[in-house]
Amino acid sequence: MKLSNRLSAIDNLINTPYDVIWDCCCDHGQLGMALLKRGAAKQINFVDIVPALMDELKNTLIRFSDQQAAACQWRVLCQDVATIELSSAAKQLIIIAGVGGELLLRLVQQIIANCPVKLREQLSFIVCPVHHTYALRQGLQALGLGLIKEQLVQENNRFYEVIQVSFNSQQPLTAAGAEIWQHTQAQRYLHQLLAHYTRMLNKDRGYFQQVLDDYQKIVIN
Ligand SMILES: C[S@@+](CC[C@H](N)C(=O)[O-])C[C@H]1O[C@@H](n2cnc3c(N)ncnc32)[C@H](O)[C@@H]1O
Repeated sequence: MKLSNRLSAIDNLINTPYDVIWDCCCDHGQLGMALLKRGAAKQINFVDIVPALMDELKNTLIRFSDQQAAACQWRVLCQDVATIELSSAAKQLIIIAGVGGELLLRLVQQIIANCPVKLREQLSFIVCPVHHTYALRQGLQALGLGLIKEQLVQENNRFYEVIQVSFNSQQPLTAAGAEIWQHTQAQRYLHQLLAHYTRMLNKDRGYFQQVLDDYQKIVIN
């Protein structure tokens, strides 16, 4: 099955070898399946909290494994992503896409809190939230994560930010984004954000004025 623009942008970012890739909040597991097919890691872990989805995915993967050489292992875990444990010193990539930015940040915070400090430099994350990207970026900054790459993706008339971060990167992650503003449709995305955060001023002027000020400083060439 062809990946969506969003999942395909994430797939394209993965071009160094990993020991383990986690497709978190994987739903039907399309992204993880694409990674499995091209052997992007020694092991792909699929995680979602809905048992019926995970049962179906497991059956699909068993059928798929019967047809393929076992170059790449997989595991299907039906659990809250907040409870995953990264216990080995393997090079691991954690992907979380398609959930709200606030939930996504809580999941990243919990995964890091559960991970021994000495293993953190082996971790990197690719996140792609639905909304609340500014708050997510602030939270990732506060965790000490630096930017590897970021990209704006358009899909079904909506914009998504794909953000790759790690503890090893010295490049600061900014709350309003940097590289994303090079996209050809960046001006449209900026207009949408400015309109949204202007409406949000009624809710909490103190916080949202600062968000708005930050986006108003963006210059698109
Ligand atoms: C819209 S799908 C995203 C699918 C895919 N990652 C994508 O970006 O297209 C969101 C999935 O997140 C799962 N989910 C939400 N909260 C979760 C949590 N705390 N732990 C595990 N899965 C969760 C839901 O069950 C759902 O399948």
